[in-house]
Amino acid sequence: MNVRSSFTGCSPFDFSLPTRIHFGAGARHQLPGALLDCQARRILVVTDKGIMNTGLVNPFLEQMSQLGLSVTVFDDVKANPTEQTVNRAAMLARHQEVDTVLAIGGGSSLDTGKGVAAVLLNNCNILDFEGQDMVKPPVPPVLAIPTTAGTGSEVTSWAVITDTKNRFKAGIGSRHLAPAVALLDPELTLSLPRSLTASTGIDALTHAIEGFTARCANPISDALALQAMELIAQNLEQAVANGQDLQAREAMLLGSLLAGIAFGNADTAGVHSMAEALGAMFDVPHGEANAIFLPYVLAYNLPEIPERIERIGRAMGFSSRDDRAPAEYGSLTVQKLHGLITRLGIPNLEATGITRQDLPALAEKAFQNLGTPDNARVIDAQGYLELFTRAFDRSDPLQKA
Ligand SMILES: [Fe+2]
Repeated sequence: MNVRSSFTGCSPFDFSLPTRIHFGAGARHQLPGALLDCQARRILVVTDKGIMNTGLVNPFLEQMSQLGLSVTVFDDVKANPTEQTVNRAAMLARHQEVDTVLAIGGGSSLDTGKGVAAVLLNNCNILDFEGQDMVKPPVPPVLAIPTTAGTGSEVTSWAVITDTKNRFKAGIGSRHLAPAVALLDPELTLSLPRSLTASTGIDALTHAIEGFTARCANPISDALALQAMELIAQNLEQAVANGQDLQAREAMLLGSLLAGIAFGNADTAGVHSMAEALGAMFDVPHGEANAIFLPYVLAYNLPEIPERIERIGRAMGFSSRDDRAPAEYGSLTVQKLHGLITRLGIPNLEATGITRQDLPALAEKAFQNLGTPDNARVIDAQGYLELFTRAFDRSDPLQKA
């Protein structure tokens, strides 16, 4: 294979991974030791009612009860978590004099748990900490147990919380928010329904792709992102087709983890900027929103970074032919990704209930997103409007690229 070197990211760069990771079938049984390491005594479990109803949280509650720990459960997290949800959970935690947060679930529960930790002792609104490095210590430890292979939030320093007044997704980034411990157990993902497996899997893939194409990519995040793409490409459709396939689930969870470390040290970019606008304004699930926009943003970025997009396609095994030029291979990559997303049956933009009149406001919100300056190709609100319009019309992503 003759892949040209195409590193275009940050140099010099920083890289950090403050989270201790326990990975593999049965990793959930490491919880007692992890709690002991954190000197946890009074714990707030942050989760959602869907997860509670599966019974998945009960063994953790029993374990903690046997350890003589005080446990309070906040199970009112919803998709696209808001500042009110964080503030309500934090109030409960303060009342219970909580010293440790245990977040169990998808990205919404994990981000809410991080938000609670940020405000617990600061006694303020989570949105006061919007931006990078605004969170003030002390911040109690967060332990994270993801139940989807998608979010990566278990290893990032970011929480994304919806500002309901401004209908905007606020990014709160701080090294104090990185979970102390992440327990990644693929057995916890076996019962995830097909549609959620598909949409969260595309979220993980988007993390890998954006982590690899963002302007702040670096050689370490590149290595992780490429490995994540390979794992996800080889296992996503199998995990969707047969949720009980533990090997596919494990590979997906590993891919999601690697992608999380990658984008946590690089950034996300145009796809997440558009997806977060759609999530904040119209409460569209995050993974679905990413899936809608991924091919369009990649096609937009193709003229700027053809070699990077070629490498994405090669990592995903889209063709073994070596004689294509990067731009040609990049186009093939966009086509194949679009095909994959279509096969997964993820709803299109119009099916989310928005109208054409909503597109300019969405474009403006996407432009304001912290990830926009890190998009590989410069984009303004008008550029976003064109991408939203093409996604709305379900145009061929490569039509005008
Ligand atoms: Fe995401």
